[in-house]
Amino acid sequence: MRLLTLCISATLLSCVSAKKSCVMPKSKSGGDDTPGIVKAISQCGNDSSFWFSAHQTYNLYTPLNLSNLGNVEFLFESNITIPKNVTEVQAIVNDTSVYPGHWITIKGSNIVFKGSGRGGEGWFLAHGEEWWATGNQIARPHWFSFNGNDLQIMNLNILNPVAWVFSIGGTNIHMKNLVLDARSTNGFPFNTDGVDCSASNVLIENFDVANGDDVINVSPPAQNVTLRNVRAQGSHGISVSCSAGSGGNYLFENIEISDSLFGARFKGVLGTTCNISDVTWKNMVIKNSSYPIHFIENYVDQEQPVTGDPSVAAYAKDFTYENIVGTSSNVLEDGSCISDPCWSFTTGQSPEKAIYLLCNNAEHCKDFHFKGIDLKTPGGKPAGEECIGLNGVTGMGITCTNGTIIPER
Ligand SMILES: *[C@@H]1O[C@H](CO)[C@@H](O)[C@H](O)[C@H]1NC(C)=O
Ligand SMILES: *[C@@H]1O[C@H](CO)[C@@H](O)[C@H](O)[C@H]1NC(C)=O
Ligand SMILES: *[C@@H]1O[C@H](CO)[C@@H](O)[C@H](O)[C@H]1NC(C)=O
Ligand SMILES: *[C@@H]1O[C@H](CO)[C@@H](O)[C@H](O)[C@H]1NC(C)=O
Ligand SMILES: *[C@@H]1O[C@H](CO)[C@@H](O)[C@H](O)[C@H]1NC(C)=O
Ligand SMILES: *[C@@H]1O[C@H](CO)[C@@H](O)[C@H](O)[C@H]1NC(C)=O
Ligand SMILES: *[C@@H]1O[C@H](CO)[C@@H](O)[C@H](O)[C@H]1NC(C)=O
Ligand SMILES: *[C@@H]1O[C@H](CO)[C@@H](O)[C@H](O)[C@H]1NC(C)=O
Ligand SMILES: *[C@@H]1O[C@H](CO)[C@@H](O)[C@H](O)[C@H]1NC(C)=O
Repeated sequence: MRLLTLCISATLLSCVSAKKSCVMPKSKSGGDDTPGIVKAISQCGNDSSFWFSAHQTYNLYTPLNLSNLGNVEFLFESNITIPKNVTEVQAIVNDTSVYPGHWITIKGSNIVFKGSGRGGEGWFLAHGEEWWATGNQIARPHWFSFNGNDLQIMNLNILNPVAWVFSIGGTNIHMKNLVLDARSTNGFPFNTDGVDCSASNVLIENFDVANGDDVINVSPPAQNVTLRNVRAQGSHGISVSCSAGSGGNYLFENIEISDSLFGARFKGVLGTTCNISDVTWKNMVIKNSSYPIHFIENYVDQEQPVTGDPSVAAYAKDFTYENIVGTSSNVLEDGSCISDPCWSFTTGQSPEKAIYLLCNNAEHCKDFHFKGIDLKTPGGKPAGEECIGLNGVTGMGITCTNGTIIPER
């Protein structure tokens, strides 16, 4: 009966492409469902739909590591959970024979990974609250790794990830309708990055995020990445970073971000070089952000010792900031700040400033353009700017100043 229903609805979606329908088994003892799922997927093989049935919770008590998939779809109507017990998860993360680097690893081509959508009953549960409450950062699991070509990742609801959510590699990747809820009432949700993207030809759209790290972080070798229609709360902004290689052609647009540490953000890693070009942040409303527009070339990870030759830096070219409105914040840190000075401390910082453009020199930051920037202080006055390395450069749309942002004329 159940199979019949699935097959009827599957007809519309996929029987056209002649996919076999396979219902994923649940362990009768209430234990780990991963071994049964792995077996079922391998028996169904390529050209299949894998159904995770509604009204229950599949227990992924061990990681799911799948590769060589071709023309398959994962359809989640149910909840999926990893163990709630922190020690149990840590023991697995420590064991490289069972944990490949992410709890769910999906590799192959022509793959649909589809959840039940906003308002649907399926959630991916990782019980991050158990970790956040004690500030536990030891042996944390990464959630998803997708690598391949022609991947569609959609309608997923993610609740309380322990840390990093999506790691995306490969090409031709479409992610849409994603909900990431990492709000914490008890401790900071450290490193709950939404999407870490090194893939090319990527479109990500309709993303609702409340988290404690980057909404997205795109870095080389990624090429041709568009992110649009985002609503974010908290977070460390819409980020591009680089430490090696070349990449570019990134567009971030139609973004509302509130109460964040950063808004439109670039971080070149201290003592490293890379080439990054054609990056645009446009149509953004950034409200109550500590550093609404932030560009630095000396980023260091809070957990790492500060080393690196400051004369070596990223080469950034054709960066555009367009139609960005909003306000800076009275507070220049968030709960991720556990060192003194705070890891996010920025030269010249002040709640009265909204643009930080800290460039090695004009050679490292070519063809920067600012247009339609209307950023205010918390008190409603025009916000200021901190600018290094670009003194006297013309054609940027604003002048490089330490003080009020001056539109170029
Ligand atoms: C699935 O998880 C959500 C979010 O925690 C919860 O509200 C819902 O009751 C769960 N459903 C089942 C069948 O356990
Ligand atoms: C399944 O498809 C993938 C991707 O096309 C391919 O690499 C793999 O060999 C196929 N597996 C089988 C058993 O045919
Ligand atoms: C978590 O798992 C560990 C190791 O299996 C066990 O010793 C501990 O009692 C468990 N904690 C809870 C709260 O169940
Ligand atoms: C996991 O490894 C870390 C060191 O990286 C260690 O501190 C921790 O106790 C280990 N936990 C388990 C459950 O194996
Ligand atoms: C994950 O799968 C890949 C590809 O089959 C394999 O090479 C790797 O050893 C697996 N890792 C773990 C930890 O199972
Ligand atoms: C860029 O990526 C998008 C989204 O995958 C794709 O539709 C488009 O064809 C790509 N453009 C180029 C020039 O490859
Ligand atoms: C601004 O955002 C911070 C979090 O970064 C929050 O604590 C504070 O309440 C917000 N202020 C206002 C006025 O909303
Ligand atoms: C950046 O581009 C220049 C000029 O094409 C090249 O010489 C250099 O190797 C590139 N650097 C990196 C890190 O790819
Ligand atoms: C702004 O101040 C910094 C030091 O805080 C200085 O290095 C930089 O040259 C100044 N920029 C301008 C445009 O005066």
